[in-house]
Amino acid sequence: MKIFVDTANVAEIREAVSWGVVDGVTTNPTLAAKEGKPFLPILKEICSLTKGPVSAEVLAEDAKGMVEEALPLAKVAPNVIIKIPMTAEGLKAAGELKNRGIKTNVTLIFTANQALLAAKAGATYASIFVGRLDDIGEDGMQPVRDAVQIYKTYCYKTEIIAASIRKPEHVLEAAKAGAHVATIPFPILKQCLGHSLTDKGIQRFLDDWKKVRK
Ligand code: G3P
Repeated sequence: MKIFVDTANVAEIREAVSWGVVDGVTTNPTLAAKEGKPFLPILKEICSLTKGPVSAEVLAEDAKGMVEEALPLAKVAPNVIIKIPMTAEGLKAAGELKNRGIKTNVTLIFTANQALLAAKAGATYASIFVGRLDDIGEDGMQPVRDAVQIYKTYCYKTEIIAASIRKPEHVLEAAKAGAHVATIPFPILKQCLGHSLTDKGIQRFLDDWKKVRK
C-alpha cells in the first residue's frame, strides 16, 4: 500500500519524507488554510520535496470553472494531481482533464457507487473518507472494501485512497482491505511508527550494554 501524507505543512512533509516511507501528499482547502500563507508557493515547495503525486484541490463548483482552476495548478509541477469534488460537474471535469493529460483525485467519496462513477469518469484516484463516515456511526472502511472488490472485478485503473484517516487502526484496516493508498495525517503516521515496548526495549539494551562495558 502506498502512503501519502495528508497535510499542507512543509515541515511535516519534510520529516515524513526523510523516513523514506512517503509516496505522495494530499492537501485540501482546510489543510491549506491552516498554514495561513498563500497556497501556490506552498504547493511548489511540497512538489519539490517528493517526486510522488501531490493533490491540490479546486474550489469552483462547475466543470468549466474547475478545469480553468486546474490548468495553472497543473503547471506548478509535473506531479500535481487535481483534486475534484464528487459531483456531476466534478465527474465532467475529471473526464475533461483526463483528455488533456491531467491526473485527478475525485474526493469527498462516501459510497462504493460514487467510487464506481469516479473510476468510470477516468479519475486517477478516488478518495473515500473513512473517518467522516465513522463519525456518523457507519463503518467507514466498508466502502473501501467494496470499491477494492469492484475495481478488481472490472480492472479499473483508478487507485483507491483511504482518506480521512483518524487512527492507526484505519491504516491497518485500509491495508487489509487492499486500498492502493492511505493518506495519513502526520500525527497518525508518527503513532504508526512508535510503540512503548520499542522505546522500553531500546532503553533496556542501552542499559545492559553499559553494564558489560564497564
Ligand atoms: O484527505 C481528506 C482528508 O483530509 C479529510 O480528513 O479528518 O478532515 O475528515 P478529515
